[in-house]
Amino acid sequence: MSKELIRLSDCFMKFDDDVILDHINLYINDKEFLTLLGPSGCGKTTTLRIIGGFLSPTSGDVLFDGVRINDVPPHKRKVNTVFQKYALFPHLNVFENVAFGLRIPRTQTVEQEGKTVSRKVKLPKQEIHDRVMEMLEIVNLKGFEKRSISALSGGQQQRVAIARALVNRPKVLLLDEPLGALDMRLRKDMQQELKRIQQEMGITFIYVTHDQEEALAMSDTVVVMDGGRIQQIGTPEDIYNEPKNAFVADFIGESNIIDGIMRADGVVEIFNRKFQCLDKGFAKDEPVDVVIRPEDVDIVDESQGQLRGTVTAVTFKGVHYDTIVDFYGFKWLIQTTDFCPVDSHIGIKIDPDGIHVLKKSQYSGMFGDYSSYSEEYEEISDADYEPEEESGHEE
Ligand SMILES: Nc1ncnc2c1ncn2[C@@H]1O[C@H](COP(=O)(O)OP(=O)(O)OP(=O)(O)O)[C@@H](O)[C@H]1O
Ligand SMILES: [Mg+2]
Repeated sequence: MSKELIRLSDCFMKFDDDVILDHINLYINDKEFLTLLGPSGCGKTTTLRIIGGFLSPTSGDVLFDGVRINDVPPHKRKVNTVFQKYALFPHLNVFENVAFGLRIPRTQTVEQEGKTVSRKVKLPKQEIHDRVMEMLEIVNLKGFEKRSISALSGGQQQRVAIARALVNRPKVLLLDEPLGALDMRLRKDMQQELKRIQQEMGITFIYVTHDQEEALAMSDTVVVMDGGRIQQIGTPEDIYNEPKNAFVADFIGESNIIDGIMRADGVVEIFNRKFQCLDKGFAKDEPVDVVIRPEDVDIVDESQGQLRGTVTAVTFKGVHYDTIVDFYGFKWLIQTTDFCPVDSHIGIKIDPDGIHVLKKSQYSGMFGDYSSYSEEYEEISDADYEPEEESGHEE
């Protein structure tokens, strides 16, 4: 997975007067599973279309194996695409849908009497048959060849679309939110399937999603985008554990993001209290963003806490409770297996490795307070609330 295959070099894209991609620099290695992740409108599909050859960047270069391919049309790139609306042919059965691309005659250049001539050639029937059957096996649809498309479930149709894109043996498969139309359960199954197919066939996948869980679960590398810019590139673990700014910290998982001041290497102050942390290299008294993940906070007795707060909402989530705690008007989300009732006063402790100090950025102050989250909870629980006898509490 070390050889570079595709590179976007300083790609800039404008539609009318709007900047859609702002100097994107990115390389993708051979056999890598790379995901473009970001909110709606951040430029994911545009980036994918530039790689696929459906769009040309306003400026900047697209390289494949070190060769500039800006002007190479899509069908001449070693790249296939699965679009979100995968448009299978409804009048053809499963076999014919997958075989479609193989039946198109291709141009072959041959030497004839000292001259180079090009001619159209068709793949032999047997080869088409073998390749389609091999693909159907890979996507777990063996035995479905004669089925009509309308007699397939959403997940099966999705797999036909993937088989159709892979049967031509592209070096790279581009997938634009391919699981968007599927329900949660099927989505999770298909995530595993896609990962398996990618590894089994040894091809490069460039995958687009706005679902952070999906990105973390499937990818070797995640590229987080916002506003046409790359915010961070890294492994799922890097992106989760070491977010580069408040946007990434907020977008990936849940984060409390609090204003802090770096007092010294390894010492950060929040709410006028000093906390030990592992971060260093900031200026003395530099204002910073402090990211604290909900699972990194320990609830302790009020008298023992580094900070003291009041519980404003509790939601049972199965494994843990989502507990919203008000500290001096700033609401945190804490995930804990300890049940703390609403209005109780609690203390918290945070280990040094549970504190992540970030440089201030354009995103500072925009994220990381759970006030609205708890209001949502209150609304939800109000709607469900039915006064009842205290039936569950008999002695
Ligand atoms: N042909 C076009 N002309 C003008 N603006 C466009 C065009 N295509 C895309 N845009 C704009 O470019 C921005 C990025 O679009 P893009 O489709 O890349 O977003 P995305 O990240 O894929 O979003 P989503 O998650 O909603 O699919 C959007 O603001 C969109 O309106
Ligand atoms: Mg899109």
